[in-house]
Amino acid sequence: MTEFTFALHATDGDARTGAIHTPRGLIRTPAFMPVGTQATVKTMYPGQVRELGADIVLGNTYHLMLRPTAERVARLGGLHEFMRWPHPILTDSGGFQVMSLAQLRKLDEKGVTFRSHLDGSKHHLTPERSIEIQQLLGSDIVMQLDECVGLPSERAEIERAMRLSLRWAERSKQAFGTRPGHALFGIVQGGDQPDLRLESAKGLTELGFEGYAVGGLAVGEPQAVMLDMLDVTCPALPTSRPRYLMGVGTPDDILQSVKRGIDMFDCVMPTRAGRHGLAFTRRGKINLKNARHADDHRPLHEESACPASRDYSRAYLHHLVRTGEALGAMLLTWNNLAYYQELMAGIRASISEGRFEDFMAETREGWAQGDI
Ligand code: GUN
Repeated sequence: MTEFTFALHATDGDARTGAIHTPRGLIRTPAFMPVGTQATVKTMYPGQVRELGADIVLGNTYHLMLRPTAERVARLGGLHEFMRWPHPILTDSGGFQVMSLAQLRKLDEKGVTFRSHLDGSKHHLTPERSIEIQQLLGSDIVMQLDECVGLPSERAEIERAMRLSLRWAERSKQAFGTRPGHALFGIVQGGDQPDLRLESAKGLTELGFEGYAVGGLAVGEPQAVMLDMLDVTCPALPTSRPRYLMGVGTPDDILQSVKRGIDMFDCVMPTRAGRHGLAFTRRGKINLKNARHADDHRPLHEESACPASRDYSRAYLHHLVRTGEALGAMLLTWNNLAYYQELMAGIRASISEGRFEDFMAETREGWAQGDI
């Protein structure tokens, strides 16, 4: 069986390009992982997601443990088989979603107890149970259970959550054991406090993980604070392991984070925005709800390889969005994921060729030019 390995192919400043090898296939980095919370990338067929160039998708412990349950997914052959995505899957550990979605949460050293947002039923999540659920799902990249605090928060609260997350990292590692071809990632916490970020990164590195995530960002702080935290955190992580910035972000967040040494991203932005009538393009964001598109025959991008971007007029997309038709959400999600994957391909190629800074400048110029 192929092991889980990460090979760096080129660097340009602090930006890196490479590939994670897994028995389920290759993940080219920097990678963008479309979010498939409920065992589906909303509105998209798995084959379409693949064709756009996604090497990996993200699934969620929290949602799947409640419905249809991890045990049922396991009986049905695992998450890859269930959702018909045979390529790599990363699953988040559940802590972050418990904090944002569940009711009546109680968190202590052991783990977190909460009531389901679906039916009020009571559930427990511990670092060990989160690992067990992710194993039942058959996840290729498993995330440790952590506690993410929103920003702004008191330093004492950030420190407590970071230390708890470190102790949970150790328990997660113990519970995960050795599973050839599968990886466990630790998660750096520490809010907007540079010394706490460093302590977290050092603690996790001493424990030793296959990859390192940076969590607790894009939770209410300005972009400059997030980038400052990456400036502190990335140099404290081993260069030989993938670095994953969780829940980020806008196309500009991605460029700025790659520049600082991040290799992996996930975000609901392209999929969620697509369902709300918003298109990401090389000329910036376009709100298809706006009346100015009602008579515009032009597609979003006439030269795109993606049919959603190339073959449908803005007038038609405007009409679909205004009438609330399912096809509007489908086409805009398709366009947005195409744009994100095209951006990642451009990033990887430019790093390989030593022109990442130029690529970044040109890409940002395109957004600034606007939708003429
Ligand atoms: N998704 C976005 N941010 C986070 C985080 O800090 N922790 C986890 N587990 N998931 C996230």
